Amino acid sequence: MNYFKYIGGWPFYKIEYYICHSPRLPALMFNLILFGPPGSGKGTQSEKLVDKYGMVHLSTGNLLREEIANRTPLGLEAKKFMDHGQLVPDEVVIGMIDSSIEHHKEAAGFLFDGFPRTVAQAQALDKLLSFKGSEIDLVLALEVSEEELVHRLLNRGKTSGRPDDTNESVIRKRLTVYSNETSPVADYYKKAHKFKAVAGEGSVAEIFAALRQAVDMEMAS
Ligand code: AP5
Repeated sequence: MNYFKYIGGWPFYKIEYYICHSPRLPALMFNLILFGPPGSGKGTQSEKLVDKYGMVHLSTGNLLREEIANRTPLGLEAKKFMDHGQLVPDEVVIGMIDSSIEHHKEAAGFLFDGFPRTVAQAQALDKLLSFKGSEIDLVLALEVSEEELVHRLLNRGKTSGRPDDTNESVIRKRLTVYSNETSPVADYYKKAHKFKAVAGEGSVAEIFAALRQAVDMEMAS
């Protein structure tokens, strides 16, 4: 079987490769997806959740920005999409997630932040975890109005140095991509009865308390 797909002239493993080459993870894990549009507070709340529950934080946005900072071929290719508010191809991000999971074989669980962002990524993650003997336990979605999202991201852009935060039209493009390509992921997990929406406006502490309550309930069930 040909396991490669060429993107921008570079070879990436196809999704099928990771599924066939995945060693199993420990049986007792708690795997959480923090879901929501750009600027909804996924990164902010992820830091607090991993402190509290000891999961390994896997943010595809952070992983991609590390690749860009290190000027790797993957990073240079990804930058072309990110600077325009578009999604990086599925094969690239699934490969990064697979190798990050591999680096943390003894983890008590994973917190996925900004991943999955397409139904194809969600299906691949389910298969990947299932072949490793694990699964997603809960998807928590932060709900924030569009005007608040734009306000937060433009504000962050003043100091973050992120090219995708400085231009309002790129921010609006990210929100459109979220609505078209990422929001169907919510239905995917609703059908699996793993999805719970949480109000994402209010103080960071209030939102964290609501997330904690949802995680504690799921862990106790
Ligand atoms: P990524 O890095 O994932 O960015 P994003 O989803 O656009 O999310 P952000 O980091 O912008 O927001 P956040 O929800 O984490 O909010 P935060 O806590 O930072 O992705 C960037 C790009 O990489 C994508 O556009 C795509 O190109 C590519 N990519 C990444 N993953 C991919 C994937 N799986 N597939 C394909 N492509 C992928 O908060 C935002 C701001 O609000 C901060 O300033 C914060 O201080 C503030 N804030 C937080 N909480 C509150 C609050 N309660 N009240 C007021 N302000 C708050």
